[in-house]
Amino acid sequence: MSRLGHTLLLAALLASPAAAQNLDSLLARMTLEEKLGQLNLLSADGRASPQQMQLVRAGKLGGLFNVIGAENTTPVQRIAVTESRLKIPLLFGLDVIHGFRTIFPIPLAEAGTFDPEVAEATARAAGVEAAVAGINWTYAPMVDIARDPRWGRIAEGSGEDPYLGSLMAAARVRGFQQTIFATAKHFAGYGAAEGGRDYNETEISARTMREIYLPPFKAAVDAGVASIMSAFNDIAGVPASGNAWLTDTVLRREWGFTGFVVSDWTSVMELLQHGVAGSQAEAGRRALTAGVDMDMQSGIYTDALAALVRSNRIPMAVVDTAVMRVLRAKLYLGLFRDPYRSRTAPAGPELRALARRAARESIVLLKNDRALLPLDPKTATIAVIGPLADNKEEPLGPWHTQGQAQDVVTVLQGIRSRASGVQVVYAQGAGVEDTSTAGFAAAVAAAKRANVAVLVLGERGDMSGEAASRSSLGLPGVQQQLLEAVAATGTPLVLVLMNGRPLILEWASDHVPAIVETWFLGVEAGNAIADVLFGDVNPSGRLPVTFPRVLGQVPLYYNHRNTGRPYEANNKFTSKYVDVPNTPRYPFGFGLSYTTFAYSDLKVSPARARVSDTVTATVTVANTGKREGTEVVQLYVRDEVASVSPRVRELKAFQRVTLKPGESRAVSLRVAVRDLWFIGLDMKPVVEPGTFRVYVGPNSSEGLEAGFECIP
Ligand code: BGC
Repeated sequence: MSRLGHTLLLAALLASPAAAQNLDSLLARMTLEEKLGQLNLLSADGRASPQQMQLVRAGKLGGLFNVIGAENTTPVQRIAVTESRLKIPLLFGLDVIHGFRTIFPIPLAEAGTFDPEVAEATARAAGVEAAVAGINWTYAPMVDIARDPRWGRIAEGSGEDPYLGSLMAAARVRGFQQTIFATAKHFAGYGAAEGGRDYNETEISARTMREIYLPPFKAAVDAGVASIMSAFNDIAGVPASGNAWLTDTVLRREWGFTGFVVSDWTSVMELLQHGVAGSQAEAGRRALTAGVDMDMQSGIYTDALAALVRSNRIPMAVVDTAVMRVLRAKLYLGLFRDPYRSRTAPAGPELRALARRAARESIVLLKNDRALLPLDPKTATIAVIGPLADNKEEPLGPWHTQGQAQDVVTVLQGIRSRASGVQVVYAQGAGVEDTSTAGFAAAVAAAKRANVAVLVLGERGDMSGEAASRSSLGLPGVQQQLLEAVAATGTPLVLVLMNGRPLILEWASDHVPAIVETWFLGVEAGNAIADVLFGDVNPSGRLPVTFPRVLGQVPLYYNHRNTGRPYEANNKFTSKYVDVPNTPRYPFGFGLSYTTFAYSDLKVSPARARVSDTVTATVTVANTGKREGTEVVQLYVRDEVASVSPRVRELKAFQRVTLKPGESRAVSLRVAVRDLWFIGLDMKPVVEPGTFRVYVGPNSSEGLEAGFECIP
């Protein structure tokens, strides 16, 4: 058994070893149909249908998902544990992605906190809320690395970096698994969809797979994740839901994963569309023998596999192994002892406070010319404008489970309650995707009357997430025109963005004095944004993903290789575009504060280190401004010469450091030399001796430089 979150670990210990023996005898008593039934997972529509209840009674379902509320899970669980022949309890799954009823920031936003503790806390809270509603298994965390902002599901993960992504993956697994089982998804490479078009094919080299896409999954496995979801995509022609290399060789044999693998929604059936199976039976055989234990929503394992097992085309041992993985999960979850797993609801105010804290920390200040922000709470008149300014739906983001629009505090509400003495004038201006400019006149008039205008623009929540790829990354509808019209009034302008992916912000970056990236922050969005706008909170979020200048640069990510002809300004024959710089508009790790920080005295020791050593980089960070603030001190490494072309920088450590005005502190960041591996020419991880450059600074494109020598 891999390590589990602490409460579940206790359950697992209580469950063994006698109970484990009971599983063997349980398996021995199962018919083939009952075995395949345990591998069958179906979606309900809020509650189980009469047909699904009948399947449960007949032992033909191992779990249900989208049955929500203990009043709906309890009766069907009762059928499983009292009316089915073997009385095996059900798993109840749900996509609890960034909150259950209390909606927290989308995972991409939360990754920008660079604060795994916050991610652990929100996952834990979401897990408890879901458990009260009868859920015992979530399809989260989504740990797909995403380098293409066209891909809408970038919103659900932690962005482009495998190190940050790994820390967030492990934290969320720990958080959820205090009460419910987690699922790391989508295994693997789903984020590399060509053209950013969801479900599209991927072409990922084995090296890039291991260096970039797999590490967050490995981190989830090491944190004890109970299940892994196989992805929809193919990798160079081999679909992930029928890919023995992924779900057997790497996951189980190399990493020692002992939990179970669930397919994605009909991804077993889709092996037919991929063209790697000519019949349902063949699709099922391919998936099951590749190590996909549970079939979500295809019904193929129960409908089509019995005959293949009886004719020995699928060995019974393969079925038994999969069944035991599912049964063991139910045992570890404590379902045989307590199938209903009643839980006490967490206190509402604590959840709201956590939601506000996570939201505040997620906000990234992208631009703040002439210290326009923070706003003075005694400003006479503030105009609050835009389709998202008083919108209660969109801050919930793409996966809001049981989240309710009525729970959301809008920006307008947040500003009104923070600045009670201020006159606030509101105009919507336009809807998110409107083509009409009819509302512009009122918006312009509001801006003209005000001392400052706060313009809240961006995407609808469902413009990112699943099946929400975009081919252009500007502001949708007429919002760009609205922005330009309001800017033309000359009233000082703060642009507040809500979106689930990096947007192209060229005009705004050149013309708007203050820009605040808020992603989708959940129920406390408006309060958290007001906290930042008025300076009650000094922003400390950083970008977990690169913001390109133009779409044509995509994919653009900081940890690229150098090429043989790296960019040189005066040399045409170097790697560049003729019409746009190579650099991003805002780099990975970037974010401003209301104060300023200065870095000095970077030292790395020891100067010579073995692979088994840890090197420590020490740097002095000073708060050189007038407010207390939190800096995310980031450490990047570059291997100077290696047998495989190294990446120009890779994040290897970071620390959030809070400093009072004038305060300075020596900050130490530690890196184990063994973590500086790459996939060598023999396709195995290796750390090669030689010089490593170390950069420590505020983001992926700045920082002081030092180095050390790795000796054999
Ligand atoms: C998504 C998964 C999700 C599943 C169950 C699929 O369409 O790709 O992320 O967990 O549905 O709702």
